[in-house]
Amino acid sequence: MKQYMTERFSVKKFDSTRKLPEEQISELIECFRLSPSSLNLQAWKLVVVSDENMKNKLADAGIGDNGPKIKDCSHLFVLVRKKLSLAHFQKVIESTEMLQLKMKKQNMNIMKMKAFFFFYSLLMGQKNWAVRQVYLALGVLLASCAKMGIGSLPMEGIRCRKMDKIVGLSGEYRTVVALALGFPHEREATNPSRLKKSRFSREEVILII
Ligand SMILES: Cc1cc2nc3c(=O)[nH]c(=O)nc-3n(C[C@H](O)[C@H](O)[C@H](O)COP(=O)(O)O)c2cc1C
Repeated sequence: MKQYMTERFSVKKFDSTRKLPEEQISELIECFRLSPSSLNLQAWKLVVVSDENMKNKLADAGIGDNGPKIKDCSHLFVLVRKKLSLAHFQKVIESTEMLQLKMKKQNMNIMKMKAFFFFYSLLMGQKNWAVRQVYLALGVLLASCAKMGIGSLPMEGIRCRKMDKIVGLSGEYRTVVALALGFPHEREATNPSRLKKSRFSREEVILII
């Protein structure tokens, strides 16, 4: 895995003439769906954009030079958080075997479990709790892209509310971050074969106890 992480890089210029095969996109979608989340919360949605018109519209929501990257990539993944609600907690509890076993063991009914979720979510900061899980799924997608040799660029430089409007997200869903996917342009300046990967030293960032 170290080799994949060394070789991956953020694609800053995409080749707009090349499209990723649907099988690879489908596999990445599954990697997103299978991402772990705290208490199996899954308070998210993935919007997959391949339509050229839609990508052109979304490019307007890119800050600075992110616009052309959105326009030229093969696919844009928009990672979205879902607002937490009692109805969502109920769905999570009903579909998660681990939580049902926990309820049985602790002699808890679903009302108690929902109350636990509710107060725990308040403690974790409802919005930020969901946002953190979305970023975790972004990490899973980035590692998957590295392993699958797919060019990717995570993007925080986006106008989230504008993206919500363009893709037509309703009240309970909010854009958090985007991931552009595709083939690097041959004039890609950040290709590590042309640019040394810059990371702090092990001594700087690792503490082994
Ligand atoms: C959460 C996140 C948001 C980022 N947002 C942007 C962005 O808006 N535009 C951009 O060009 N690069 C963006 N990047 C890419 C970083 O600049 C890049 O990952 C970093 O410089 C390390 O380079 P590497 O990914 O090529 O190893 C983002 C990266 C992450 C992880």
